[in-house]
Amino acid sequence: MTELPEKNVPFVNPRAAHDFRGRTCSIVSVGSYVPERRLSNAELEKLVDTSDEWITTRTGIKERRLAADDQFTSDLAAEAAKKALEKADIDPEAIDLIIVATITPDMPFPSTACLVQQKIGATHAAAFDLEAACSGFIYALEVAQQFIMSRTYDTVLVIGAEKLSSIVDWKDRNTCVLFGDGAGAAVLQYRAESHGLLTACMGADGSKASLLSMPGGGSRHPASQQSLDDRLHFLRMDGKETFKSAVTAMHRAAKKAMERCQIDISQIKCVIPHQANQRIMSAVADRLGATEDQIFANVDKFGNTSAASVAIALDQAVEQGRIQRGDLVLLVVFGAGLTWGAAVIEW
Ligand code: UT7
Repeated sequence: MTELPEKNVPFVNPRAAHDFRGRTCSIVSVGSYVPERRLSNAELEKLVDTSDEWITTRTGIKERRLAADDQFTSDLAAEAAKKALEKADIDPEAIDLIIVATITPDMPFPSTACLVQQKIGATHAAAFDLEAACSGFIYALEVAQQFIMSRTYDTVLVIGAEKLSSIVDWKDRNTCVLFGDGAGAAVLQYRAESHGLLTACMGADGSKASLLSMPGGGSRHPASQQSLDDRLHFLRMDGKETFKSAVTAMHRAAKKAMERCQIDISQIKCVIPHQANQRIMSAVADRLGATEDQIFANVDKFGNTSAASVAIALDQAVEQGRIQRGDLVLLVVFGAGLTWGAAVIEW
């Protein structure tokens, strides 16, 4: 039998970034959008039995953003996409493919990506949604990278977008204090001899699917009076177990991504973890041996925005000057599924 080449080798070794067959999947630009409405911990104190003190010490969250009633996931996604396209000065008509990672699509079908295609005028783009919960943005980056490196498409728009306020149970203090709405986008292009996405890895464990889910609305529990009475159309989570799995999986994924690129944590300028909980981020940083100033966090302002989380954070890290061209950036995510992933970018 013919011997196959080793699986999952990094596209490039960053120390010799442009020697690896000259192939590069470049992140040309990023953009993000969060709705204007802020929901503070003090306001949540009036909704459920909670306190600013509990939320702050257990999660690090001070406020989160909520989309307006007439603002949907596709609207948030389109705003983030327009900003990313503007920064790169790329015409929407040049986009070959749009991937939207989300667990809160405007509707089960058509896809949110198709709605975004229409909103931004990307008339030549194919479009589909990808569902990997909070890990969605890295899953989508990896999928986009495959299309680009195979030269199937030259320009791919990757978006993580959520209107989580539409599936949060505002009577459940265990979850309603955690989530927020927003979107982040990245434009990926084939650019030989350029900076880019060095590697992305993904993982999943379906045996823990019940830890974090929204049981209603699919083929198992279609909408019915019973499903409404049982509150099946809201997100539910076993927080403690999810927390433990998150720390282990994010640590492993981050290590794997760095190993593939033959780098260690000291070479990473900025670590951008999924913004679920400050305590999770600190525990992962600790295990990786990362210093506090390597970690980028904005969970205090936006809470957990699921698939949008690291996309918004990456855009803000760039805007705030935390990342300069040429820096190595590590993204690491975790979410329902369970799913997880990590990516190394040479910015
Ligand atoms: O994005 C996908 C991944 N998501 C995550 O990674 C989230 C992972 N989980 C977490 O971040 C944390 O587990 C939570 C923030 C959700 C909860 O923190 P915890 O330290 O694990 O608290 P706990 O669930 O063990 O609850 C401790 C206590 C409980 O009371 P009893 O049973 O000890 O009397 C809860 O009922 O805190 C109570 N509690 C609250 N109290 C005030 C739970 N939520 C609240 C609340 N306000 N909002």
